[in-house]
Parts: sequence; structure tokens; C-alpha cells
Amino acid sequence: MTDKLASYYPELADAQTAFRAALKPDCLKGRVILITGAGDGIGRTLAKTCAVYGANLVLLGRTRSKLDAVYDWLSQHTGAEAAIVPADLAALDDAAADALHIAIEEAFGRLDGLVHNASELGPIKPIEQYDTATWQRVMATNVNAPFLLTKTLLPLMREAEDASIVSISSSVGRKGRAYWGGYAVSKFALEGLSEVLADELESTTVRSNTVNPGGTRTDMRRRAYPGEDPETVPLPEQHMDLLLYLLSGASIGVTGKKFDARTWSGASEA
Ligand SMILES: NC(=O)c1ccc[n+]([C@@H]2O[C@H](COP(=O)([O-])OP(=O)(O)OC[C@H]3O[C@@H](n4cnc5c(N)ncnc54)[C@H](OP(=O)(O)O)[C@@H]3O)[C@@H](O)[C@H]2O)c1
Repeated sequence: MTDKLASYYPELADAQTAFRAALKPDCLKGRVILITGAGDGIGRTLAKTCAVYGANLVLLGRTRSKLDAVYDWLSQHTGAEAAIVPADLAALDDAAADALHIAIEEAFGRLDGLVHNASELGPIKPIEQYDTATWQRVMATNVNAPFLLTKTLLPLMREAEDASIVSISSSVGRKGRAYWGGYAVSKFALEGLSEVLADELESTTVRSNTVNPGGTRTDMRRRAYPGEDPETVPLPEQHMDLLLYLLSGASIGVTGKKFDARTWSGASEA
């Protein structure tokens, strides 16, 4: 698993040790982590994993019932404190982001982790045929919302001893691919946002990295590849080691990197 790390990120060779340390059961103890899209797929698994490792959670998502189900699981299986924020990120504005800032400040006083995970896939079709309103909705959810949340919540992240912004990207956000339209373009923009942040925050305690999960067994994957046998695709659980590393103190000082969850976990590339 982690023996592959040094060959892909030689400058992070020491992180192998740090990474193993990150898997200690209390590696996220007391950390406050906001995850967007926490009601389903990778975000849901990440929320549960973070709670198991000691974090308190802000669960943001579109469908209230899905967030409630995650909340109930956390209450039954962990001692995590959790807050639910039902919100359509496509409609997020300054006022809503400010209200979220105030709510997190009142409940927790700081923010240690911000995971930009929610994403809209949109249609798989040529740019020439792409509907304009859909394009704008995909950009609003996948790019504008991460910008607005980051901008508004950064002061709370500066209140933490160290803080980590993790942006969940995609391989089509690192190399353009035909028909992936607004989704691909939005992921390029998210990669850009993460890089700009890493550079701006270099001398601070806030780090910013991106993770490409690669094909993962979720609803989004099923929608993108309806003919695929889901059993051939890794579960979200397989990405948790890397995400734990990035959200724990083990990755302090690691910033501006583009991670590949599949490479990290040793699975073959899709
Ligand atoms: N699965 C893959 O193969 C794969 C591959 C590469 C990258 N990724 C990336 O991994 C991340 C997670 O994807 P996933 O596969 O877990 O997707 P998913 O199963 O579709 O889950 C996405 C979550 O985001 C929420 N969401 C979507 N649009 C939203 C909006 N406008 N406002 C608030 N919440 C919204 C969804 O809420 P609802 O459930 O209420 O709709 C859902 O909970 C995404 O950034 C995706 O681009 C996934």
C-alpha cells in the first residue's frame, strides 16, 4: 500500500511514516471537519470514517433525509458531535455562507478540515450540444461553491492549530476528455483554486491539496458508466487512508499536491 508513495512523491518519502501515524485511532480527535456531499457516496463514507477516528463533523448536502441517516449512524456508532447543513450548493450565496460561518463559529469555534467533495456530473455530451443553464449549474456547484465556502471559512481555519482543505477532483480535471463537458472543466477550475490557495497560504498553517479518487462505486459512477459491473470498481472505503492522512496532523506542511487515491492505495488505474 504505502510503499508506493515514495516512488510517486519522492519528496514525501517521510510521509510514509507520518501516514502510518495518521491511522492511529485518535488521529482526528477533536478536529472539526466540514464535508460537502456528506449524505452519499465518497462523502458519506468519509464522514463516518472521520467520526470513527475522532472528528466532529459538519455534514453539508442537498438531501435532508440522507444527512439524517448519516447523523443517526454517527450517533449510534461514534461519540462525534455533528451538525447538519441541508443546502443546494448551486444556490449558495454570500449570505448563506456567512450564516454557515457564524453557525460553525458558535458550535465549534474553529474549522480544522474542509472537504470540497460534492459535485454535479451533468450530462456526458459534446460542448456544442451542452445546455447553458446546466453548464452554469455545474459550475455553481463544483467551482463557485468551493470558492465561496473557502473564502468565507478561511478565518475559522486560521483559528485551528493546523487546517487542511481537500478538494476532490477527477482524472478529467487533469487531462481533458471528450464529452465530459462542464464537469471536466469545473474540475480543472477546482484544481486551479486549490493551487492558488496553496500558494497564497504557503506561510500559514492552512494546507490545500487535491485528490483524484479514480473510478469509485457510487451513484455518480453508475450514472457515468451505466453498463459497468459495479463489482469491478473500488468502494469509497479504499480511499479513506489517503483522506485520513490529508485531514490529520500527519500531513502538516504537505500542500499544493495532486494526489491519486488509486495509486496511493495500490489499486490499478481505471
Ligand atoms: N465516483 C467516482 O467514480 C468518482 C470519480 C472521480 C471523481 N469523483 C468525485 O468524487 C466526489 C464524490 O463523488 P461521488 O461519486 O461520491 O458522488 P455521488 O455518489 O453522486 O455523491 C455526491 C454527493 O454530493 C451531493 N451534491 C451534489 N450536488 C450537490 C449540490 N448542488 N448541493 C449539495 N450537495 C450536492 C449529493 O447530494 P444528493 O445525494 O442529495 O444528490 C451527494 O450526496 C465528487 O467530487 C466527484 O466528482 C468521483
